[in-house]
Amino acid sequence: MIHGTIPDIFKKIINEEAPEHFGEVFLQLANIMGPANDNESINKDIPAGWTYFGQFVDHDLTFEREFGMNSRTPIFDLDSLYGQGPNSTKHNHLFEGNEGHETFKIGSLGTPQNKTGDLFRDENFVAQIPDPRNDENIIIASLQLLFQKFHNLLITNHGFNFNQAKQAVVWHYQSIVRTDFLPRIVGSTKIEEIKQNGLKVFNPTQISEVFMPTEYSGACFRFGHSMVRERYSFNSNFNDFRSFPALFFDFPNGRPIEGGHQITIPWTLQGNGESLLRFFDPTILDPLRDANNLSGSINTQLSKILFNLEIERGQNNILAHRNLITGQQLKLANGQQVAAFLRNADVTVTELTSTEILSGGAPLAIQSNTPLWYYVLKEAELQHNGKHLGDVGGTIVAETIIGLLNADPLSVVNRTDDWPIKLGNPDNNDVTMIDIINFVDVG
Ligand code: HEM
Repeated sequence: MIHGTIPDIFKKIINEEAPEHFGEVFLQLANIMGPANDNESINKDIPAGWTYFGQFVDHDLTFEREFGMNSRTPIFDLDSLYGQGPNSTKHNHLFEGNEGHETFKIGSLGTPQNKTGDLFRDENFVAQIPDPRNDENIIIASLQLLFQKFHNLLITNHGFNFNQAKQAVVWHYQSIVRTDFLPRIVGSTKIEEIKQNGLKVFNPTQISEVFMPTEYSGACFRFGHSMVRERYSFNSNFNDFRSFPALFFDFPNGRPIEGGHQITIPWTLQGNGESLLRFFDPTILDPLRDANNLSGSINTQLSKILFNLEIERGQNNILAHRNLITGQQLKLANGQQVAAFLRNADVTVTELTSTEILSGGAPLAIQSNTPLWYYVLKEAELQHNGKHLGDVGGTIVAETIIGLLNADPLSVVNRTDDWPIKLGNPDNNDVTMIDIINFVDVG
């Protein structure tokens, strides 16, 4: 079974628009949003891998390449991994192998530079993947590679055909999104509330009704920007004393052409004891060596590296400033309007006071007209000490994710077939990220 046409539009859930701010208000606000103190703004409850799993999820659902158009399908189908598949002219070059049993091409495999492989790259080291953003930093690139390898192993070692392998990969991924990722970022109380009371503001009943809520893509899901840390303990070559920010984007070998780079031995995250596990499994974290591999607090402080984005030269390189401008261009409602809308829809919401909004030195102009993205971060900071999202952000993120999974007849929550293979605990539906990493590491 395949999906029919899936709407590629962004649409607002809340049909209100915040009064406009002057440009300097956003610059002023962006400038108080960090740089975060990387030794203090730490969320001990969430290992750092989840920051980039979040980015990976973002890139599966939403990409506003052209204003108002979503170039990703807003369902959890991993189009950022599979693209249009091996039978399409657009993406058949990403695959190899017999028809019906295609595997992803892996780059550099078995070469002296890198025993465990890299994304498949062209001669300029530009990754050949459907969404270039999944090569934006070394951790998300490693996640892309992990899921490619998961697919490949199901074919080479478990006798699956392409469709069976894709089905298994997508269901495992969706299961992780629901039960390993979502509760961490919205908190278990929000999940319980939705279980008890149902979805209140985003509840498409069929696939033709789904859309990408602009509040989610333009503001609430951008909470992850505050979880980015300045340094990470990548592997035993580059632990917390030796890693440095440039490594995060630039990888080794420099960038011969803008956007191109390569994962080679010193930077490898998988295999040889240098596993992605060090980003997901707190039990293997060494408190000294790996203190950096926890996520940043979800708060109004952003890492230094996000004040000097080098990835899109010529554009505004302060990420906070960009998010604030984009939110206004998208004509989003402000935090107060969204809070009121949710309360009217019977969602439990405690609204931030203007004193709370202004704490930390925010410009007066935003006290009762707070950009939604900033509001959501402030709420997480004050309501949950930066450990997970608060009432407004948690509701929009949780309802969007659960609503999209529910509306998709092929998703793991609506499945009628048995799992073709199921990693992890056979007695329940929960698969964890650690299950996938162990499966791929061991091969
Ligand atoms: C180093 C890490 C990251 C960098 C450098 C980065 C950079 C960016 C940039 C430049 C944009 C476009 C901003 C604009 O012009 O409006 C963007 C959009 C976005 N980011 Fe990030 N990001 C990072 C991590 C994350 C994470 C961890 C998450 C979520 C967990 C996230 C969620 C989003 C979302 C939802 C969008 C909107 C996408 C769209 O609809 O086009 N990002 N990011």
